[in-house]
Amino acid sequence: MAEVVIVKDSIEGGSVAAGLIARLVRRKPDAVLGLATGSTPLSTWQALAKLNLDLSKVRGFALDEYVGLPVGHPQSYRSVISREVVGPLRLTPEFVRVPADSGPLETAGDDYEQAIRDAGGVDLQVLGIGRTGHIGFNEPGSSLASLTRVKTLTEATRTDNARFFDSPDQVPTHCITQGLGTILRAKHLVLLAFGAAKAPALAGAVEGPVTSSLPGSVIQLHPNVTVIADEAAAAELKFADYYRNAWNSRLDWERD
Ligand code: GLP
Repeated sequence: MAEVVIVKDSIEGGSVAAGLIARLVRRKPDAVLGLATGSTPLSTWQALAKLNLDLSKVRGFALDEYVGLPVGHPQSYRSVISREVVGPLRLTPEFVRVPADSGPLETAGDDYEQAIRDAGGVDLQVLGIGRTGHIGFNEPGSSLASLTRVKTLTEATRTDNARFFDSPDQVPTHCITQGLGTILRAKHLVLLAFGAAKAPALAGAVEGPVTSSLPGSVIQLHPNVTVIADEAAAAELKFADYYRNAWNSRLDWERD
Protein backbone atom coordinates (compact mmCIF):
# COMPACT_ATOMS: atom_id res chain seq x y z
CA MET A 1 0.00 0.00 0.00
CA ALA A 2 1.23 3.48 -0.80
CA GLU A 3 2.13 5.79 2.04
CA VAL A 4 -0.51 8.51 1.78
CA VAL A 5 0.20 11.89 3.36
CA ILE A 6 -2.84 14.14 3.65
CA VAL A 7 -1.87 17.79 3.97
CA LYS A 8 -3.70 21.08 4.42
CA ASP A 9 -2.81 22.55 1.06
CA SER A 10 -0.37 22.48 -1.84
CA ILE A 11 2.15 24.59 0.07
CA GLU A 12 2.42 22.03 2.86
CA GLY A 13 2.40 19.24 0.25
CA GLY A 14 5.25 20.90 -1.63
CA SER A 15 7.24 21.15 1.53
CA VAL A 16 6.76 17.43 2.35
CA ALA A 17 7.80 16.47 -1.20
CA ALA A 18 10.79 18.82 -1.14
CA GLY A 19 11.86 17.21 2.14
CA LEU A 20 11.89 13.78 0.47
CA ILE A 21 13.98 15.08 -2.42
CA ALA A 22 16.36 16.89 -0.06
CA ARG A 23 16.88 13.73 1.98
CA LEU A 24 17.76 11.83 -1.20
CA VAL A 25 20.18 14.46 -2.50
CA ARG A 26 21.97 14.77 0.84
CA ARG A 27 22.61 11.03 0.67
CA LYS A 28 23.32 10.98 -3.07
CA PRO A 29 24.37 14.37 -4.53
CA ASP A 30 24.19 13.06 -8.12
CA ALA A 31 20.73 11.56 -7.65
CA VAL A 32 18.53 11.07 -10.70
CA LEU A 33 15.20 12.88 -10.43
CA GLY A 34 12.15 12.24 -12.57
CA LEU A 35 10.65 15.65 -13.28
CA ALA A 36 6.96 16.33 -13.79
CA THR A 37 5.41 19.42 -15.35
CA GLY A 38 1.91 20.81 -14.86
CA SER A 39 0.80 23.11 -12.07
CA THR A 40 0.83 20.46 -9.32
CA PRO A 41 4.60 20.15 -8.69
CA LEU A 42 5.22 23.92 -8.63
CA SER A 43 4.99 24.21 -4.84
CA THR A 44 7.50 21.36 -4.56
CA TRP A 45 10.04 23.14 -6.76
CA GLN A 46 9.48 26.37 -4.83
CA ALA A 47 9.95 24.67 -1.45
CA LEU A 48 13.05 22.86 -2.71
CA ALA A 49 14.57 26.10 -4.04
CA LYS A 50 14.16 27.65 -0.59
CA LEU A 51 16.25 24.87 0.97
CA ASN A 52 19.21 26.23 -0.98
CA LEU A 53 20.85 22.86 -1.57
CA ASP A 54 23.65 22.32 -4.04
CA LEU A 55 21.77 20.46 -6.79
CA SER A 56 24.40 21.00 -9.49
CA LYS A 57 25.24 17.28 -9.72
CA VAL A 58 21.62 16.11 -9.85
CA ARG A 59 20.55 14.52 -13.13
CA GLY A 60 16.97 14.95 -14.36
CA PHE A 61 14.61 13.22 -16.79
CA ALA A 62 11.33 14.89 -17.68
CA LEU A 63 8.31 12.61 -17.84
CA ASP A 64 6.93 13.83 -21.10
CA GLU A 65 6.92 16.38 -23.92
CA TYR A 66 4.53 17.65 -26.56
CA VAL A 67 5.21 16.64 -30.14
CA GLY A 68 5.03 19.31 -32.82
CA LEU A 69 5.75 22.52 -30.94
CA PRO A 70 8.54 24.66 -32.38
CA VAL A 71 11.84 24.56 -30.47
CA GLY A 72 11.77 27.23 -27.78
CA HIS A 73 7.94 27.40 -27.61
CA PRO A 74 7.18 28.67 -24.09
CA GLN A 75 4.76 25.78 -23.42
CA SER A 76 7.06 23.02 -24.61
CA TYR A 77 7.97 20.97 -21.56
CA ARG A 78 11.65 21.66 -22.32
CA SER A 79 10.89 25.38 -21.82
CA VAL A 80 8.69 24.74 -18.79
CA ILE A 81 11.32 22.54 -17.12
CA SER A 82 14.05 25.12 -17.84
CA ARG A 83 11.95 27.98 -16.47
CA GLU A 84 10.33 26.31 -13.46
CA VAL A 85 12.84 23.67 -12.42
CA VAL A 86 16.35 24.03 -13.85
CA GLY A 87 16.61 27.78 -13.24
CA PRO A 88 15.12 28.09 -9.74
CA LEU A 89 16.83 24.92 -8.46
CA ARG A 90 20.15 25.80 -10.14
CA LEU A 91 20.37 22.40 -11.83
CA THR A 92 23.04 21.92 -14.48
CA PRO A 93 21.13 22.32 -17.79
CA GLU A 94 23.18 19.65 -19.62
CA PHE A 95 22.22 17.10 -16.95
CA VAL A 96 18.50 17.47 -17.63
CA ARG A 97 16.88 15.53 -20.47
CA VAL A 98 13.43 15.82 -21.99
CA PRO A 99 12.02 13.09 -24.31
CA ALA A 100 12.87 13.65 -28.00
CA ASP A 101 15.33 16.41 -27.18
CA SER A 102 17.80 14.97 -29.68
CA GLY A 103 17.71 12.61 -32.68
CA PRO A 104 14.73 11.50 -34.78
CA LEU A 105 11.30 11.10 -33.21
CA GLU A 106 11.03 7.51 -34.48
CA THR A 107 13.79 6.32 -32.15
CA ALA A 108 13.35 8.92 -29.41
CA GLY A 109 11.52 6.50 -27.10
CA ASP A 110 14.24 3.84 -27.21
CA ASP A 111 16.96 6.50 -26.93
CA TYR A 112 15.33 7.93 -23.83
CA GLU A 113 14.99 4.54 -22.18
CA GLN A 114 18.68 3.93 -22.87
CA ALA A 115 19.65 7.32 -21.42
CA ILE A 116 17.70 6.60 -18.23
CA ARG A 117 19.39 3.19 -17.94
CA ASP A 118 22.82 4.74 -18.57
CA ALA A 119 22.19 7.18 -15.71
CA GLY A 120 21.53 4.23 -13.39
CA GLY A 121 17.74 4.66 -13.34
CA VAL A 122 15.52 7.27 -11.73
CA ASP A 123 15.91 7.49 -7.94
CA LEU A 124 12.81 9.55 -7.24
CA GLN A 125 10.03 10.22 -9.72
CA VAL A 126 7.72 13.17 -9.07
CA LEU A 127 4.25 12.63 -10.56
CA GLY A 128 1.08 14.64 -10.94
CA ILE A 129 -2.18 13.05 -12.03
CA GLY A 130 -4.57 14.22 -14.71
CA ARG A 131 -8.35 14.26 -14.41
CA THR A 132 -8.46 11.23 -16.72
CA GLY A 133 -6.19 9.39 -14.28
CA HIS A 134 -3.18 9.82 -16.54
CA ILE A 135 0.35 9.99 -15.22
CA GLY A 136 2.94 11.47 -17.53
CA PHE A 137 0.85 11.52 -20.69
CA ASN A 138 -0.19 7.87 -20.36
CA GLU A 139 -3.84 8.20 -21.20
CA PRO A 140 -6.50 5.58 -20.31
CA GLY A 141 -5.81 2.35 -22.16
CA SER A 142 -2.01 2.66 -21.88
CA SER A 143 -0.30 -0.66 -21.33
CA LEU A 144 0.80 -1.09 -17.74
CA ALA A 145 4.16 -2.26 -19.15
CA SER A 146 4.55 0.58 -21.68
CA LEU A 147 7.88 2.31 -22.25
CA THR A 148 8.67 5.79 -23.62
CA ARG A 149 6.75 6.32 -26.85
CA VAL A 150 4.68 8.72 -28.91
CA LYS A 151 0.98 8.91 -27.96
CA THR A 152 -2.16 10.73 -29.05
CA LEU A 153 -3.63 13.01 -26.38
CA THR A 154 -7.26 12.64 -25.34
CA GLU A 155 -9.57 15.57 -25.96
CA ALA A 156 -10.09 15.84 -22.16
CA THR A 157 -6.37 16.40 -21.62
CA ARG A 158 -6.13 18.83 -24.55
CA THR A 159 -9.03 20.79 -23.03
CA ASP A 160 -7.42 20.79 -19.57
CA ASN A 161 -4.11 21.97 -20.97
CA ALA A 162 -5.65 24.62 -23.23
CA ARG A 163 -5.28 27.10 -20.35
CA PHE A 164 -1.56 27.23 -21.10
CA PHE A 165 -2.11 28.15 -24.76
CA ASP A 166 -3.70 31.13 -26.54
CA SER A 167 -6.47 28.93 -27.95
CA PRO A 168 -7.53 25.27 -27.55
CA ASP A 169 -6.63 24.37 -31.14
CA GLN A 170 -3.00 25.28 -30.42
CA VAL A 171 -2.68 22.39 -27.96
CA PRO A 172 -0.69 19.67 -29.75
CA THR A 173 -2.49 16.44 -30.61
CA HIS A 174 0.52 14.23 -29.84
CA CYS A 175 3.08 13.79 -27.13
CA ILE A 176 6.00 11.57 -26.19
CA THR A 177 5.87 10.18 -22.69
CA GLN A 178 7.68 7.82 -20.39
CA GLY A 179 5.55 4.69 -20.20
CA LEU A 180 3.92 3.20 -17.15
CA GLY A 181 6.58 0.49 -17.21
CA THR A 182 9.28 3.20 -17.30
CA ILE A 183 7.72 4.93 -14.31
CA LEU A 184 7.53 1.64 -12.39
CA ARG A 185 11.31 1.25 -12.74
CA ALA A 186 11.98 4.39 -10.67
CA LYS A 187 13.07 3.55 -7.13
CA HIS A 188 10.62 5.86 -5.36
CA LEU A 189 7.41 7.37 -6.74
CA VAL A 190 6.06 10.59 -5.24
CA LEU A 191 2.56 11.29 -6.56
CA LEU A 192 1.11 14.72 -5.82
CA ALA A 193 -2.57 15.69 -6.09
CA PHE A 194 -4.15 18.96 -5.04
CA GLY A 195 -7.73 20.22 -5.44
CA ALA A 196 -11.18 18.66 -5.66
CA ALA A 197 -10.96 18.06 -9.41
CA LYS A 198 -8.35 15.37 -8.74
CA ALA A 199 -10.35 13.50 -6.05
CA PRO A 200 -11.94 10.80 -8.31
CA ALA A 201 -8.70 10.10 -10.19
CA LEU A 202 -6.70 9.94 -6.97
CA ALA A 203 -9.15 7.56 -5.27
CA GLY A 204 -9.06 5.34 -8.36
CA ALA A 205 -5.27 5.40 -8.47
CA VAL A 206 -4.73 4.62 -4.79
CA GLU A 207 -7.67 2.38 -3.91
CA GLY A 208 -9.38 1.28 -7.12
CA PRO A 209 -8.62 -1.78 -9.21
CA VAL A 210 -5.30 -1.78 -11.06
CA THR A 211 -6.40 -1.09 -14.59
CA SER A 212 -5.10 0.53 -17.74
CA SER A 213 -8.42 2.42 -17.79
CA LEU A 214 -7.02 4.50 -14.94
CA PRO A 215 -3.28 4.57 -15.64
CA GLY A 216 -2.37 6.11 -12.26
CA SER A 217 -3.53 2.88 -10.59
CA VAL A 218 -0.27 1.32 -11.78
CA ILE A 219 1.37 2.85 -8.68
CA GLN A 220 -0.19 0.00 -6.71
CA LEU A 221 2.32 -2.34 -8.37
CA HIS A 222 5.26 -0.34 -7.00
CA PRO A 223 6.82 -1.15 -3.62
CA ASN A 224 7.84 2.40 -2.66
CA VAL A 225 5.21 5.07 -3.26
CA THR A 226 4.45 8.26 -1.37
CA VAL A 227 1.18 9.97 -2.26
CA ILE A 228 0.85 13.56 -1.08
CA ALA A 229 -2.66 15.00 -1.36
CA ASP A 230 -4.49 17.95 0.11
CA GLU A 231 -7.83 17.46 1.89
CA ALA A 232 -9.83 18.27 -1.27
CA ALA A 233 -7.99 15.75 -3.45
CA ALA A 234 -8.13 13.15 -0.65
CA ALA A 235 -11.88 13.56 -0.16
CA GLU A 236 -12.82 10.28 -1.86
CA LEU A 237 -10.20 8.08 -0.19
CA LYS A 238 -11.93 5.34 1.82
CA PHE A 239 -9.00 4.74 4.15
CA ALA A 240 -8.14 8.39 4.84
CA ASP A 241 -8.34 7.94 8.61
CA TYR A 242 -5.88 5.08 8.47
CA TYR A 243 -3.46 7.12 6.32
CA ARG A 244 -3.62 10.05 8.77
CA ASN A 245 -3.06 7.73 11.70
CA ALA A 246 -0.12 5.97 10.00
CA TRP A 247 1.54 9.29 9.13
CA ASN A 248 1.07 10.71 12.63
CA SER A 249 2.42 7.53 14.22
CA ARG A 250 5.62 7.35 12.19
CA LEU A 251 8.49 5.87 14.12
CA ASP A 252 11.49 8.06 14.90
CA TRP A 253 13.65 6.66 12.09
CA GLU A 254 10.88 7.32 9.59
CA ARG A 255 10.68 11.00 10.47
CA ASP A 256 14.12 12.36 9.50
C1 GLP B 1 -0.38 17.12 -17.76
C2 GLP B 1 1.01 16.44 -17.66
C3 GLP B 1 1.08 15.53 -16.46
C4 GLP B 1 0.45 16.24 -15.29
C5 GLP B 1 -1.03 16.37 -15.49
C6 GLP B 1 -1.72 17.20 -14.44
O1 GLP B 1 -1.03 16.86 -18.93
N1 GLP B 1 1.45 15.75 -18.79
O2 GLP B 1 2.43 15.15 -16.22
O3 GLP B 1 0.66 15.50 -14.12
O4 GLP B 1 -1.33 16.79 -16.80
O5 GLP B 1 -1.51 18.57 -14.63
P1 GLP B 1 -1.71 19.63 -13.48
O6 GLP B 1 -0.68 19.36 -12.47
O7 GLP B 1 -1.51 20.98 -14.13
O8 GLP B 1 -3.09 19.43 -12.97
